[in-house]
Amino acid sequence: MSAQSNRQILLVETPKGKLGPEHFCMAESEAPRPGDGEVLLRTRYISLDAANRAWMQGATYRAAVEAGTVMAGGALGEVVQSNAPGLAKGDLVFADTGWQDFAVVKGKHATKLPKLEPLTHLLSVYGVAGLTAYFGLLRVGKPKAGETVVVSAAAGSVGSIVGQIAKIKGCTVVGIAGGAAKCDWLTRELGFDAAVDYKAAPVFKALKTAAPKGIDVYFDNVGGDIFEACLFQMNLHGRIACCGAVSQYDGAPSPHGPRGVPGLFVVKRLTVQGFIVMDYDAEREAALADLQSWVKSGQLKVQEDANTPAALIGLLAGENRGKRMVRVD
Ligand SMILES: NC(=O)c1ccc[n+]([C@@H]2O[C@H](COP(=O)([O-])OP(=O)(O)OC[C@H]3O[C@@H](n4cnc5c(N)ncnc54)[C@H](OP(=O)(O)O)[C@@H]3O)[C@@H](O)[C@H]2O)c1
Repeated sequence: MSAQSNRQILLVETPKGKLGPEHFCMAESEAPRPGDGEVLLRTRYISLDAANRAWMQGATYRAAVEAGTVMAGGALGEVVQSNAPGLAKGDLVFADTGWQDFAVVKGKHATKLPKLEPLTHLLSVYGVAGLTAYFGLLRVGKPKAGETVVVSAAAGSVGSIVGQIAKIKGCTVVGIAGGAAKCDWLTRELGFDAAVDYKAAPVFKALKTAAPKGIDVYFDNVGGDIFEACLFQMNLHGRIACCGAVSQYDGAPSPHGPRGVPGLFVVKRLTVQGFIVMDYDAEREAALADLQSWVKSGQLKVQEDANTPAALIGLLAGENRGKRMVRVD
């Protein structure tokens, strides 16, 4: 096949403070050719995630994104050419393609996906966001019916699903999010019992009112001051699922850490566990079956918006509700 043009978005320099449009530029090159065991993918939808910003700060569970390289990111891709067993032209996969029209990846690093409608659900509720919410809450948080679950970045792609799964499991659910509109959406549309607007008032006091019996499970997406406010209200034998720390990704790190660490872990006999969604790959199919049945029954609502890559900057500032992605035309 003749080489096609490949639009790419590069990270120009590693941001020291807040991420801005000046940190990216567009380049064009020829689409790459797959070698043995590799596939050529055409990118259909790129996932925009808070973690994209964390990858610019250094190595995490993946290598850092270096200045001058294609911006990294997971995407829904269609196989254009395959030299890999088990993958054929036309298959849909999830892979780290980066922000570009075409990418070559090793077949073993591409997860084959079912063809279902809407396709975008493969990046949201049936993708990393849905699976992270599912495993983080159910395997790490281990909520029991009647317990109080609190989730931060609650109107985001992971948090909005965490809260709804906790409701399905019979828990009292409190979301922490920025702004009255998001809080209203959580309680009116998604069925959360209460929501705390961390931008309107100090979280600790508002949380005392919203969760009067204390917190049994805290699903932490943000770290920092909100982590501290929740830590002090944890019940005996509570569980904290450490999913991410979005309050620390964009800009200089906070000069002081949360107070109460590790003393309150001891006194309250807390289980505090970090996790990465891939830890639970072996249980993926069972999780997807549950998520699909909840979406079908209407118990789990999915919020998505297809946007431009620049929308990563707005996501870090809290513009998004639910899952944000880029449609590649
Ligand atoms: N462990 C894993 O395997 C795994 C997998 C996927 C994602 N994650 C992590 O899960 C977390 C949520 O990811 P997501 O994709 O669902 O992100 P997201 O909610 O779509 O976007 C981030 C949200 O975080 C909130 N936020 C930003 N700065 C904040 C701050 N300083 N304090 C409090 N909230 C802030 C904003 O909402 P507000 O308007 O409410 O501020 C924003 O909408 C991230 O930490 C991410 O890294 C972990």
